[in-house]
Amino acid sequence: MKHLIDPMDLSLEEIDHILTLAQDIIDHKEKYSQVCRGKKLATLFFEPSTRTRLSFEAAMMELGGNVLGFSSANSSSSAKGESVGDTVKVVSCYADIIAMRHFKEGAPMLASMKSDVPIINAGDGGHNHPTQTLTDLLTIKREKGRLSDLTIGLCGDLMFGRTVHSLIKAISRYENIRFVLISPEELKIPDYIRTEVIESNNIPYMEVTSMEDVIGDLDILYMTRVQRERFFNEADYIRLKDSYILDNSKLALANQNLSILHPLPRVNEIAVEVDDDPRACYFRQALNGKYVRMALIMTLLGLEADE
Ligand code: CP
Repeated sequence: MKHLIDPMDLSLEEIDHILTLAQDIIDHKEKYSQVCRGKKLATLFFEPSTRTRLSFEAAMMELGGNVLGFSSANSSSSAKGESVGDTVKVVSCYADIIAMRHFKEGAPMLASMKSDVPIINAGDGGHNHPTQTLTDLLTIKREKGRLSDLTIGLCGDLMFGRTVHSLIKAISRYENIRFVLISPEELKIPDYIRTEVIESNNIPYMEVTSMEDVIGDLDILYMTRVQRERFFNEADYIRLKDSYILDNSKLALANQNLSILHPLPRVNEIAVEVDDDPRACYFRQALNGKYVRMALIMTLLGLEADE
């Protein structure tokens, strides 16, 4: 049995397998419609979600399986004081695979030690979000045709944004990657990502505060929202929340091949006028999330399509 807790749990070969399978699912949906017949996915979400939970549930349904679960800590016995370990021990009696989101870093890792079925980390605090990373990689591969030779700008809350941390870890393993890290001073990338991932892999990078100065150099611009729920102080959030707003005037400085990604939800950081630009990939990205989660569920359950 294999769990997915950290993007580094997957080798490059395993990522390639999942992305290739996801593309085959997109191209031949009917082949996969009964692959998970008789299987159940439990979604245990202790923190709010729209895309991750619903795309997991849609993924399992489109594979012919069933779903059960809860969408907030308050609607589970966690509200009565039950531990994550006990919750997972019990739910693994009811389901074949579990996707879990938790506000505490490390909770899905702890769950994986107690579970009798595969655990998928659907986001743990400010730490990791490996299935968003698979979504991002599939999107980059489909939009650009490659996962190497890319200048990637990451913009916004690089301190608390778990999608940023996971994407940097995963894509650092591909050839000829360069990072442009765009954030306010207070929301710079955590030291452990800069030293243990970027610098230790000798990846060229720069840290800047101005989006306008660098947008013209980018192949990918990965926008993120400022993570209000991770701030200790509301005044700091209000001061920083609108640090970057991508609108058509800033987009005019970018090259025509730019791909704009955002894990969503967005708040203010991309103006709605940008949505109609062909370079805006974020809604296609959200759709890719369903297909890549279908591929992941199949892979962790060891299932193949009926020929
Ligand atoms: N990208 C993402 O994790 O979105 P949700 O919080 O809506 O799941």
